[in-house]
Amino acid sequence: MKIAVIGTGYVGLVTGVVLAELGNDVICVDKDPVKVEKLRKGIPPIYEPGIEEMLRKALNEGFMTISTSIAESVAASEVVFIAVGTPPSEDGTPDLTAVRIVATEIGKAINKPTVVVNKSTVPVGSGTMVEEIIAAQGVPAELFDVVSNPEFLREGSAIHDTLHPDRIVIGAKRRDAAMKLVELYANLESPMIITDLNSAELIKYASNSFLALKISFINAISRICEVSNANVSDVAKGMGTDKRIGPQFLQAGLGWGGSCFPKDVLGMHSTAKRYDYDFALLQEVININDDQTLHFVRRIEKRLGGLEGKRIGIMGLAFKPNTDDIRDAKSLIIVDAILKAGGKINAYDPIATENFRELYPDLDYKKSVYEVPVDADALVVVTEWNEFKQLDLARIAESMKQKVLFDGRRVYKKEAAERAGLEYFTIGSN
Ligand code: UGA
Repeated sequence: MKIAVIGTGYVGLVTGVVLAELGNDVICVDKDPVKVEKLRKGIPPIYEPGIEEMLRKALNEGFMTISTSIAESVAASEVVFIAVGTPPSEDGTPDLTAVRIVATEIGKAINKPTVVVNKSTVPVGSGTMVEEIIAAQGVPAELFDVVSNPEFLREGSAIHDTLHPDRIVIGAKRRDAAMKLVELYANLESPMIITDLNSAELIKYASNSFLALKISFINAISRICEVSNANVSDVAKGMGTDKRIGPQFLQAGLGWGGSCFPKDVLGMHSTAKRYDYDFALLQEVININDDQTLHFVRRIEKRLGGLEGKRIGIMGLAFKPNTDDIRDAKSLIIVDAILKAGGKINAYDPIATENFRELYPDLDYKKSVYEVPVDADALVVVTEWNEFKQLDLARIAESMKQKVLFDGRRVYKKEAAERAGLEYFTIGSN
């Protein structure tokens, strides 16, 4: 199938390379000429395991081209994906400017039957908005369809998630348009849910909000565990083995961050408001998440008797492992709080350091993880990178000024840390 994908961020680029891998003729479009130049050389603008190899393969084998022109790409394609960013605006509502601009360009370029697929995460009603924008460019209704096909990939496992999705959601007004996507995704052999535009859009927001809720729920339970001498991992395991609950997204920790949950929970909340529904539950999901990180900082502060002049080692800056993304990362809140309280920071992340350095140029960045605890008053695990899991804790303890470990992701066993001579604190047990 001839396909254009507009936007080469996480969603767009991964969609592009996977569709090329499946043998489609894909044009990836981006307005940024620097990005386009890099992509043409096979250099992805994002860090994602496996993407570079797939991009190079698609380019070399002629299944993918890269363009800056929406008009040319739309003219050459039968299916056009919109995969541009929808960042939150000041009041929490998603900013749909990029979607509107792209829809206008698409409308100007359509000259034959075209299925326009919205993959950007958008509030309910946005598909209809895109339809209206395209129609306003003078495109007759019978020449185009707008379909909602939300994306459920996770950063760090994006290729795998796209090739093996739990489900594919297709929301369309006309059956023919939905069938076009069914044909496109047939080889993935995943369950497909075919529905209307609005329901498809809501499925995305509702799913992300529910996952965030699940994490906030277990984090609230973790607070009770800490004061009642229970262990949150055991509680989560006991809950998660009930098939109606399920074990995933019950990992207690510093809370959820990243480019999606914070934006989408707010987006769901503001969308509800637009429809005159006060989704107070979601506000509480956000409150629990915010407090979870600050509560951890308060515990560090209490143990050290204040942070003024103290050196804290931060292990992990990315919002989660296997990504260099620091958007809404918990490291930002923790580093900010420590600096404001007069503390000093040693920091290390396997790949996100450079992104962090742009925001905090003056931290003491380390080149390897064993340098982080040196002379520190406390060591804090913020991201659960695999390379942190089997460290020599005795070596770490030896190098520290005060042998205090705050494990924000429950990476270590208390007994192992104590055996190594560390005083161990974590979330959800004591
Ligand atoms: C999330 C969703 O999982 C994807 O399905 C969705 O497509 C994506 O948002 C999106 O809307 O684009 P992502 O943000 O990449 O994916 O990362 P997750 O693996 O979901 O983690 C999100 C946050 O939750 C991270 O900060 C992570 O540390 C935290 N988390 C996750 C927990 O604290 N506990 C858990 O049990 C799971």
